[in-house]
Amino acid sequence: MTVIENSRLAIIGAGAVGSSLAYAALIRGSAREVVLYDIDAARADAEVLDLAHGTPFTGASRITGGGDLDAIEGASMVVITAGAKQKPGQSRLDLAATNVGILRELMPRLVERAPNAVHLLVTNPCDVLAVAAQRFSGLDPSRVFSSGTVLDSSRLRWRLAERLGVSPTSVHAMIVGEHGDSEFALWSQSRIGPVPVREWVDAQGDRIEEAELEQLAEEVKNAAYAIIAGKGATNYAIGLSGARIVEAVLRDEKAVLPVSSVLQGYHGVDGVALSVPSVVDSSGIARVIDVPFSEGEQRAFERSAEAVRRTIGTLGL
Ligand code: LAC
Repeated sequence: MTVIENSRLAIIGAGAVGSSLAYAALIRGSAREVVLYDIDAARADAEVLDLAHGTPFTGASRITGGGDLDAIEGASMVVITAGAKQKPGQSRLDLAATNVGILRELMPRLVERAPNAVHLLVTNPCDVLAVAAQRFSGLDPSRVFSSGTVLDSSRLRWRLAERLGVSPTSVHAMIVGEHGDSEFALWSQSRIGPVPVREWVDAQGDRIEEAELEQLAEEVKNAAYAIIAGKGATNYAIGLSGARIVEAVLRDEKAVLPVSSVLQGYHGVDGVALSVPSVVDSSGIARVIDVPFSEGEQRAFERSAEAVRRTIGTLGL
């Protein structure tokens, strides 16, 4: 893939997620230069060196970084992965107070060093943190948003593709709302190729039952818990999801992705960040797309808004 000249990607946090995102960005050529920062300089230096040693195999991209935040100076995009991560059984919203506290100190320092950057929150709870980062930075909501349900939508597309025996690239389906326990599948707008998912007939001539669609969405919603229980964290798919969003920005793609930004007057929701289909380009979010919801989807969206709003309220944001 061609790389935008002088596209500098700063990744804040060299933990499992930040390092996986750096690795994915190098392999995919998402940016010309990746700068990986961590407050733990020894960790950052080691991750940068280990990744740099592989760059003779990754085309034009290069990686620098370490424990000095000044290294992100002039970045075109900043991805924030730093913060506490879910422990087995812990919800994403449980991390809010700790990670909002980190952001309160961090955001002004990032904006000072990268005043023209688009900022992407990956740290959880990413919807709450998108609201906090927008407040702490004072940036327009279009320039500070979160990865939201891009990862969940990828999980759904993979699971549906497996079930139907088609390529994931032909599955056009999205999870929207909170990146968390109240997320839901936008079945009314989902298609396999040009065929609405509820009209799809599989090789045996059978349609997918409503109960099975619900079960697939439930599996996706709980996927992270299962992975965390087994290996302590999720990192590869969120790293790839973050690299995908980076490319949409640094290549000015105008790609439609379910990222999470602070909404105003969206299906009756104001001042809360939730994932809805959005046009992503070099400006960040160029446009939030007004998608028709079924009655059930509208109710689910309102439940998602309430879940995020409740946490924002407890933090005094
Ligand atoms: C997950 C984390 C990134 O869903 O929230 O894997």
